[in-house]
Amino acid sequence: MSASPPPVPTPQLGSREGWFEALRPFAYLNHAAVSPHSAPLRAAVTRCMDAYASEGIGGFGGTLARRTALRGRLAALLDAGADEVAFVPNTTTGVISVAQSIAWKPGDRVVLFRGEFPANTTPWQQAALQYGLRLEWLDLADFDASNEAGLAALDEALRVGVRLVAVSAVQFKSGLQMPLAEMARRCHERGAELFVDAIQGFGATPISTTMGFDYLAAGGHKWLMGVEGAGLLYVRRERMSQLLPRLAGWLGHEHAFDFLVRGPGHLRYDAAFRRDAEVFEPGTQNVLGYEALGVGIIPAETLGVAAIHAHVNAYLDALERGLLALGFRSLRAPEAARRSTILSVETPAGLDPVRLHGELSARSVVCGLPDGVLRFSPHFYNHVSEVQGVLDATHDALTHLQALPRS
Ligand SMILES: Cc1ncc(COP(=O)(O)O)c(C=O)c1O
Repeated sequence: MSASPPPVPTPQLGSREGWFEALRPFAYLNHAAVSPHSAPLRAAVTRCMDAYASEGIGGFGGTLARRTALRGRLAALLDAGADEVAFVPNTTTGVISVAQSIAWKPGDRVVLFRGEFPANTTPWQQAALQYGLRLEWLDLADFDASNEAGLAALDEALRVGVRLVAVSAVQFKSGLQMPLAEMARRCHERGAELFVDAIQGFGATPISTTMGFDYLAAGGHKWLMGVEGAGLLYVRRERMSQLLPRLAGWLGHEHAFDFLVRGPGHLRYDAAFRRDAEVFEPGTQNVLGYEALGVGIIPAETLGVAAIHAHVNAYLDALERGLLALGFRSLRAPEAARRSTILSVETPAGLDPVRLHGELSARSVVCGLPDGVLRFSPHFYNHVSEVQGVLDATHDALTHLQALPRS
């Protein structure tokens, strides 16, 4: 019998202790891109590799049990059932899974948003080519202005008849938290379904199936603090029977493993497909990726997503005030309910954001640069006392760049 693993250190708001002590940057503010690997995550992955190193396939049973438990834990974070959750390698695969499984009729309309991250547009555009769908592009600028303006534009599109609306829970560039509950309600009133790309929210911004969306996909390497290549897809139970198993593989069948473990007579090619979300898991899974995700979600489970959201927003309040004073323009929504855990700012006129981003990085402040804005995205372990240092680094970088001759 193997010894039980050492306990995972308790995550604490505002502290790297036990989790991110190896992290070098003074301020790591890039969870909207990639989460650093925490110490307990590395330990769990190493333990799994050690088990495979010494036992080969004997290590599989443990990983399967942990992955089954993880399915339930992810479902619990979303207020979903475990039968509604599938493991998919990334957000895009989740989008493709649904886009290719709907029983489309030629001419069905799909609403997309200009300004979205393309993970939630390309698969629908491809489905449009294959199944003769009509795409209706709305502009996120309406939602930037106000929820009322955005929802009015959505209402207008839905009036014509729409099969599906695809949107992010949190916008990757502005950090805007979308009004999912209102969008889902409007979609359903008009017979449409709502697909949500949740990668920029799930884990740090409250997101629940009680909001009413029909599908959700999220990679695990940002706010869920896992690694790249291990994410999830949620499919509302009532929608499952309407989907076609067009992308199903050998593991999508009922009792798919029987022929490998139960002796002769179980190898068949006509077994029924699973009727739960696992039908979207066509083949062998990313064992190490899900070991990592199993640890990554512990802060969300123990601290609570709402507490993480509040903690990060207190940090971003201070950072935003300081950046405004330095001449930046904030893209953060003024209303608390429309904020996520992302603060994006436009650089002062005449300053090249790419160079400023490089100067900040050289000063040990790691942030993102999506579509030309500076994006700050801390997590539970960042402490508000960092903010002054971030502002000092920014001031210093601005002074340095403004002193340089214009190129
Ligand atoms: C809104 C959004 N969707 C999707 C992705 C990534 O998609 P995937 O997980 O398929 O790589 C990102 C960022 O990487 C994102 O910001």
